[in-house]
Amino acid sequence: MSLAMHHPLSAAQEAAAWIRRVGADAGHATFQPKVGVILGSGLNDLLDQMQMAYTLDYATIPHFGPTTVMGHTGRLDLGEVGGMPIALMRGRYHLYEGHRPEQLALPVRVLHALGVETLIVTNAAGGINPDFQQGDLMMLLDHIGLPTLAGLHPLIGPNDDRLGPRFTPMAAAYDPGLIALVRDIARQARLKLCEGVYVMVSGPTYETPAELRALRLLGADAVGMSTVPEVITARHLGMRVLGISCITNAATPEAAETISHEEVLFGAAVTLPKLN
Ligand code: HPA
Repeated sequence: MSLAMHHPLSAAQEAAAWIRRVGADAGHATFQPKVGVILGSGLNDLLDQMQMAYTLDYATIPHFGPTTVMGHTGRLDLGEVGGMPIALMRGRYHLYEGHRPEQLALPVRVLHALGVETLIVTNAAGGINPDFQQGDLMMLLDHIGLPTLAGLHPLIGPNDDRLGPRFTPMAAAYDPGLIALVRDIARQARLKLCEGVYVMVSGPTYETPAELRALRLLGADAVGMSTVPEVITARHLGMRVLGISCITNAATPEAAETISHEEVLFGAAVTLPKLN
């Protein structure tokens, strides 16, 4: 991405204008997504039953670039699920790919510029909480952003007041109304839905046993390498946020030895059917 050379708002508006133009050319001039979904590692096949209007490769969108991670597609789908117009991002950008934190804000700002009011973020995460099993889903109640607390933060730099306030409160970052709604839906569907605190690490290494013990002491239930910069950006814009982790592997000190990207992708595949 070449965002650094551009003003954040104009880059997002340019990208959104391009996406709308492609839509208009495909006969979908009036299509406006209300919900944005960002899919995490191994989850690219989610919502493949959506009624597609049109689709774009990230590489063709101004200021976007390809994603580099295996298990991430890098494609934006616009269409409907259950009558709801959505923008679905199959694949995301990570700090560990070498992107600056402010570059991670761009896709969320583009979704917002397209009209998205509610953002659903998903990710693959390791289960720190020993009650969690591979294949479980965890709804995020809160997060700990280790990189963002330490200065790798998407909102560092001059603030554009048209986007949001300089100092954005992060209490209730995960929308209490959406949390209650999803809890109800899971209960009615008799689906096991864990809840907890997500901690973001930069990666790309997995954690040492000592790090996993430390993260557990901090109060984290699941650990992953994404999501927090996007949630911060969405809250800055005043969007409602729902977060869901797929517990792809145990991230306990005892399990640390067995963690690998293959296992994470396998764990994601196990979880996938529950999300659809
Ligand atoms: N640690 C960090 N990130 C992850 C993990 C993990 O165990 N699993 C999936 N993403």
